[in-house]
Amino acid sequence: MTGAVQQTETPLASVVARATEIAREAGARLKEFFAAGVETEYKGDVDLVTVADRTVEKLIRSRLGEAFPEHGIYGEEGTRERLEGEYRWYVDPLDGTTNFAHGFPQFCVSMGLERRPAGTESESDGTLVAGVIYDPMRDELFTAELGGGAWLNGRPMKVSRTPVLAESLIATGFPSRKRHASPNIHFYHEFTLRSHGVRRAGSAALDLAYVAAGRMEAFWEFKLNPWDTAAGILLVTEAGGKVTGFADEQYKLDSREILASNGLIHDELLVMFEALFAGRDLEPIPTPREYAEQRAARLAAG
Ligand code: IPD
Ligand code: CA
Ligand code: CA
Repeated sequence: MTGAVQQTETPLASVVARATEIAREAGARLKEFFAAGVETEYKGDVDLVTVADRTVEKLIRSRLGEAFPEHGIYGEEGTRERLEGEYRWYVDPLDGTTNFAHGFPQFCVSMGLERRPAGTESESDGTLVAGVIYDPMRDELFTAELGGGAWLNGRPMKVSRTPVLAESLIATGFPSRKRHASPNIHFYHEFTLRSHGVRRAGSAALDLAYVAAGRMEAFWEFKLNPWDTAAGILLVTEAGGKVTGFADEQYKLDSREILASNGLIHDELLVMFEALFAGRDLEPIPTPREYAEQRAARLAAG
């Protein structure tokens, strides 16, 4: 015995195994497009889309349809199929399109499976039962199944044990639409001053996967969609972490706002969100003009 932990073959595990093959094939296609370079179009504001997003969504749609003909599919690039069924995949064929379009190698395929037993109200969530996130540039495959743990390239994955925000590395993202309506830069600033740093790497699904893998302690964002979060949420919870809204409310797939953490720093983050929303505990920093004046005064004083 080597002591290595083996993934067991349950019916859900075989669903994850098939979804993994699909995600790997999709990731390989993304990598080809990435190497060749693609034209970028605008969906709105700075919301970009490329031929890779559309082609890979089509590929995933057809592969999932062959593998699981009864499952529904809800994809970022418009796929809406069989949504009345018991199972529904949330698919982001390319999470991190802006990175991809610029040749910045941080992006992934994300596929999360929700079970919606008969009688589930249309506005209610079912249960997330499987999640697959694949980063083709690093060949990293993050998987989870409900009750079966979370895995990185077949090895069990756990959230970090860092107990305080002050010693944490955390992450966020910014919307690509209605950018002027987002308050997130204030949160970015405040959390930067209270942690080891805030990363803004441009793929929410990978941010969640990294929280699950213990590479970062937390992630928050204001405006996400279920295709960004479904797989990552299950990864985080199965790796021992916690996912809620900003006021500790239960996370729902259409919540938009998400706070995911290793669990240990969750309460500290919630207290910060409450204080910041109430306008308390804001750390003053100089405006650019004040800074320029201070710099000029320092130079004048020699
Ligand atoms: C985006 C990425 C990004 C996040 C944006 C998302 P896309 O997804 O996840 O990190 O900040 O809010 O829209 O458009 O690249 O699939
Ligand atoms: Ca996305
Ligand atoms: Ca996308």
